[in-house]
Amino acid sequence: MKDINGERLLSDLGELSAIGGRPDGGLDRLAWSEADLEARHWFAARMRDSSLEVRFDEALNVFGHLPGAGGPFLLTGSHLDSVPSGGRLDGAYGAVAALEVLRTLVESKDPIANRVEIVGFADEEGVRFESGLIGSKALCGELELVGLSGRRDWTGVPIPEVLQATGVDLAGMNNARSHLASVSRFLELHIEQGPRMEASGTDLGVVTGIVSVHREVITINGMQNHAGTTPLNLRHDAGRAAARMAGQVKELVQSVDHEAVANVGVMRYEPGAVNVIPGRAEFTVEVRHLDDGVVRQITERVHDRIAEICGEESCRFEIRPLSDVPGAAMDPGMMATLDRVCAELGRTHGRLWSGAGHDAQVLARHVPTAMLFVPSRKGISHAPGESTGDAHLVLGARALLAGVRAILANS
Ligand code: GLV
Ligand code: MN
Ligand code: MN
Repeated sequence: MKDINGERLLSDLGELSAIGGRPDGGLDRLAWSEADLEARHWFAARMRDSSLEVRFDEALNVFGHLPGAGGPFLLTGSHLDSVPSGGRLDGAYGAVAALEVLRTLVESKDPIANRVEIVGFADEEGVRFESGLIGSKALCGELELVGLSGRRDWTGVPIPEVLQATGVDLAGMNNARSHLASVSRFLELHIEQGPRMEASGTDLGVVTGIVSVHREVITINGMQNHAGTTPLNLRHDAGRAAARMAGQVKELVQSVDHEAVANVGVMRYEPGAVNVIPGRAEFTVEVRHLDDGVVRQITERVHDRIAEICGEESCRFEIRPLSDVPGAAMDPGMMATLDRVCAELGRTHGRLWSGAGHDAQVLARHVPTAMLFVPSRKGISHAPGESTGDAHLVLGARALLAGVRAILANS
């Protein structure tokens, strides 16, 4: 039985990271951008080079399996898009490693190669439409088409137009679900994207669950006025109200739960000039925790606090929900198999939950699903400095191969 070809894996990763690659080593491969489309076609071409049958679905997810294989498949892979100024491994690693695993099975003439399908998901990150997991939701028939059809992307272009420009019809995206009946399980390999594995010296992580993520936009309306002539006590300063809220989020979250996190990742002032009191401020709030109930509790506290602040600052506010992705538990049977596989590889391993969102959390609602992690250096991710040592990258692919074999042997 052949082993993963580590050189080929790393060389593929290098080639893929050149698509949308930045001079600082990071990646700009925003979903639906030219670079993103080029990456999807690169992945398709690589699969064809290995004689796989390749298919793009209605959401531009790209799949490959052996010609003639009809499923049900163990599906493995990850996403090909990145956040702006992101890292080269988030998503791409799991997709390229999945390809390496299937190639190795084919080269080993292992009959289970017929039961494996690989995928590069579309728009997992959710930056472009401020709502993510688009490709995996389409595969599961879960896309909220009405919500998306009325919205614009972050540059102000209506979402249906952004999609149309890439040949995707929003109204038909959920038709991708016709393939779900051919998927029996999902297994995703990913970098940890946090500091816990490196700190504990863990080489391989078996994921127990993925956090629930709530996202919303808060708009504050005050009164635009002259910044030099308006006394401080007469201002309706939307910018100050927004900044006060952003400055209090950390303490507010910690007062509810020490494992919860929240982020104010976008802040816009209007008109946004050095000598004008902002008449309007808009900012995003994202809250994450394994337990949906904790996420709701924190969100309610944010709403109570913004009401108090706006009362004090003589402003008004509106809240627009963007998305709610429930948390997901991974499949206990697959987790146990992965524990055993990691132990057999003779490396340190452990279980951990994921603070990042993943396509696996959508798939988990439909088929038994599991995830494997490798450590991230210094816990850096969603940034150009994202990295994992080559030895860990190869080890993760090896664990994925062993995991695929063991899971299919058991089912
Ligand atoms: C995706 O990486 C997310 O967790 O936002
Ligand atoms: Mn990812
Ligand atoms: Mn990401």
